[in-house]
Amino acid sequence: MIPETAPKEDVYLASAEFCKTSHVPSFDKYKELYVKSVENPDEFWGDIAKDFFWKTKHNGEFLSYNFDVTKGEIFIKFMEGATTNICYNLLDRNVHEKNLGNKVAFYWEGNEPGDELTVTYRELLQKVCQFANVLKSQGVKKGDRVSIYMPMVVELVVAMLACVRIGAVHSIVFAGFSAESLCERIMDSECSLLITADGFYRGDKLINLKLLADDALQKCKDKGFSVKRCIMLKHLSKDAEEGSQSPPAKRSCPDLQDNQTGRVKKRRPVPKVPWNPDVDQCWHTLVKGVSDQCEPEWCESEDPLFILYTSGSTGKPKGVLHTVSGYMLYTAATFRLVFDYQPEDVFWCTADIGWITGHSYITYGPLANGATSVLFEGLPTYPDVGRMWEIVDKYRVTKFYTAPTAIRLLMKYGNEPVQKYKRDSLKVLGTVGEPINPEAWQWYHSVVGDKRCPIVDTFWQTETGGHVLTPLPAATPTKPGSATFPFFGVVPAILNESGEELEGPSDGYLVFKQPWPGIMRTVYGNQQRFETTYFKKFPGYYVTGDGCRRDKDGYYWITGRIDDMLNVSGHLLSTAEVESALVEHENVAEAAVVGCPHPVKGESLYCFVTLTEGVSYGRGLETELRNIVREKIGAIATPDYIQNAPGLPKTRSGKIMRRVLRKIACGERELGDISTLADSSVVDHLFQNRCCTA
Ligand code: WTA
Repeated sequence: MIPETAPKEDVYLASAEFCKTSHVPSFDKYKELYVKSVENPDEFWGDIAKDFFWKTKHNGEFLSYNFDVTKGEIFIKFMEGATTNICYNLLDRNVHEKNLGNKVAFYWEGNEPGDELTVTYRELLQKVCQFANVLKSQGVKKGDRVSIYMPMVVELVVAMLACVRIGAVHSIVFAGFSAESLCERIMDSECSLLITADGFYRGDKLINLKLLADDALQKCKDKGFSVKRCIMLKHLSKDAEEGSQSPPAKRSCPDLQDNQTGRVKKRRPVPKVPWNPDVDQCWHTLVKGVSDQCEPEWCESEDPLFILYTSGSTGKPKGVLHTVSGYMLYTAATFRLVFDYQPEDVFWCTADIGWITGHSYITYGPLANGATSVLFEGLPTYPDVGRMWEIVDKYRVTKFYTAPTAIRLLMKYGNEPVQKYKRDSLKVLGTVGEPINPEAWQWYHSVVGDKRCPIVDTFWQTETGGHVLTPLPAATPTKPGSATFPFFGVVPAILNESGEELEGPSDGYLVFKQPWPGIMRTVYGNQQRFETTYFKKFPGYYVTGDGCRRDKDGYYWITGRIDDMLNVSGHLLSTAEVESALVEHENVAEAAVVGCPHPVKGESLYCFVTLTEGVSYGRGLETELRNIVREKIGAIATPDYIQNAPGLPKTRSGKIMRRVLRKIACGERELGDISTLADSSVVDHLFQNRCCTA
């Protein structure tokens, strides 16, 4: 399945110098290890497991599973019987066994240039133990779910690892999600405690996080679910007076000028924080005087580790559940091999920890390897479009991991803001989140990486836990836009509509034939949905929901989602979720949402709305519709285009023909077969009135 030899033409190769020290230095070595990983997974993963601490060793089969719905329940079990603790492996092992106590775990860089903090492995361990004790004192026990709704601060990592230390299950909700989304997620996983912060700035914009959190808790209450405790970190108001349980005072300081750079560091007002003494507690007050020693809770391999929600095609988000040992080994191994991690590296993944990329490649993968990472709170364009490269130079970043949408955004501003900075520390560049167009790949390679750095285009999903199709930087000759070949233990196939495996160059559904350690174990509280979503369409396979092409050299090219999912700026959204938000407006009778190509975001949301009788369409209504989607889901789902659609193209049986709507949104007149369309005059009307997407 993997070609005998790698192609030599029209591909990009790492320098001989780079390959010399690499963990997997050649294509032949990759192939050899790949065969071992698939044919003898026990030995392959067993070798990797040796580097970790196990309280008790596994007994029985290394890996057991059923991928075939026709043969019974779907399950994946990895290293059953072993007990360990991930937090212990990420922190105590590095501090006490590997002597990395004084090594920097994170360079935190705030939204404002000049706001910075350094945290060593020893300090992180102390903070985590202390907060773990706080959680225990708040009554959190093994198996309890804890919701975390925080900005990109060190305490977010502390909160997640404190949960893991005591065997509690974290459910992190991206701080850009709305109160409604947070409420839905808290209730689905029945979280007993919420950890949040007063607020944060994204560029110039203040996000009143506590206000949103309170709103979410109220919504939960209205629906009959109460969260007992809310712990609030004073992030913006950290210097405000301490000592009481009360919220921080409103405070505003003058701007400061940095003597070295001449840049003005803005001091901004802190948010107004509502306070409910029955539920709310201050992080800083709680940790005061609490011991920084905390014995970890030893967990079974298949105990739940965390839940992370991802969009589902029915509109209701799915709580993807990952478990302890498999996820630990998989994120550790992919981090080490895909970024070719070396001890002196400074790694920077620009994703938010609220997404799986941040879970796996800011927290778990890097810390499992004892790596130093940058944790960045801000935006790539604030205070100017050179911010990323300024940070790269400041911390001498060696491995840099970002999303195609960020690359396309920065590309728009030309080469000068990049070339103003040296970037000579960079060694490997990575991308994730959506297919990268070859033009953006080339710019990333030649301008950002000065043609020196291999690019790893990593394909994976919340569900896969870590990279599944990806180049290894020294071993894989790359083709711009291709995620190339499978990672170790991963066996991809391409199927046609009838479920037949296609050989050689082909185009179809991307599926996987057997589990790897990092694959999700279930949808939290809904095993049936897990089976239906991923295993029912093609029995015997895990179905990704992505389309894929294999070329003559055996390279895999992701062609995008083939279900009702959209990928906007690397974030998956379900069309059903946006549609149900739109129809909540009393004037909307029906809504249909499709994606259309966008030069920076990859895809943008194009919404068709049919209004109720007698209502007329106007600017005011359009704004209300945008707001309702922001309120229900969050700013990432804000529609780009809304079109008044007195009628929607439907089949005679009443099904909306989204395929036709997609063409209308893109302005493509070639509609293909529309013989099943009930009323073709609807289409003409929609074409005549389409929003200009150029
Ligand atoms: C898409 C993000 C092409 C894909 C880690 C997948 C990609 C979805 C790539 C998962 C890539 C991610 N090339 N497409 N390198 N990486 N995708 O769950 O459609 O937020 O199914 O996980 O993003 O998004 P999720």
